Amino acid sequence: MDDAADLGSKLAELLTTQRLGRPAHVFESLGSTQDQARAEAQDGAPDGALVWALEQTAGRGRMDRAWSSRRGEGLWFSVVLRPEGDPSAAALLSLAAGVGLARALQAPTDGAVKVKWPNDVLLDGRKLAGILAEAETHDGQVRIVILGVGLNLDPGPGGFPPEIAGQAAALSEAASGSIDAATLMATLLGELEDAIDMAQARPEELRQAWLAVSDTIGREVRAEMGGEARTGRAVDLDLDGSLVIEVADGSLSRVRAGEVVHLRPS
Ligand code: BTN
Repeated sequence: MDDAADLGSKLAELLTTQRLGRPAHVFESLGSTQDQARAEAQDGAPDGALVWALEQTAGRGRMDRAWSSRRGEGLWFSVVLRPEGDPSAAALLSLAAGVGLARALQAPTDGAVKVKWPNDVLLDGRKLAGILAEAETHDGQVRIVILGVGLNLDPGPGGFPPEIAGQAAALSEAASGSIDAATLMATLLGELEDAIDMAQARPEELRQAWLAVSDTIGREVRAEMGGEARTGRAVDLDLDGSLVIEVADGSLSRVRAGEVVHLRPS
């Protein structure tokens, strides 16, 4: 992989976005790009500012899990978002990120990428990319969302760390030829920007786009929300991003936040 300065200049040449990646700060190593992006946001970084690290020493995932982020093995980055308008649009941003990534990764994987609610990006049922949306609220409004993405490119000859081997996938499994990090980043940012614009201006279109890449709808799932779990068949996505589950008595239940486990195909 090129060094951070070279990647930054290549990306600047390739970017086609209006906001995402402007500016782009590329680091050799950070604790977590989430923390750097938050600090930059607090210093006034604009909507779309990108923080990209070639390695993270304290990468984190949802539910405070550690996120393995070794140099050369993936794209680890965070984007500063400053959502406007309706607070429900902010709730859709993390779903939009899943849609944007899935769309960007269709071509290199021959259409094999799907999304597990809310936004895990899967290749052959294993996790190819994860998304972490951390919001800052002032006066009851979401002012800043730090949207973090971890995309596995290639774990190298040693494979994934034992704790995630078996559940993780890498883009190198599906993509033929070598992956150029700056080109891929420019494509990801373009699709992310389109999906974010959809979430904010055309939420029904975003809902349809999510349904088109969903691997969850039609499956038996167990939804885990804090201490509570609910089992049923995932049947729909609400406009606010909730997953709609049909439970055993035929009634519909909505899951607004949490995680789902895919039990089996319907
Ligand atoms: C998940 O648990 O699925 C979300 C994983 C998010 C990982 C990315 S890597 C870049 C950014 N910085 C972090 O510390 N986490 C996110």
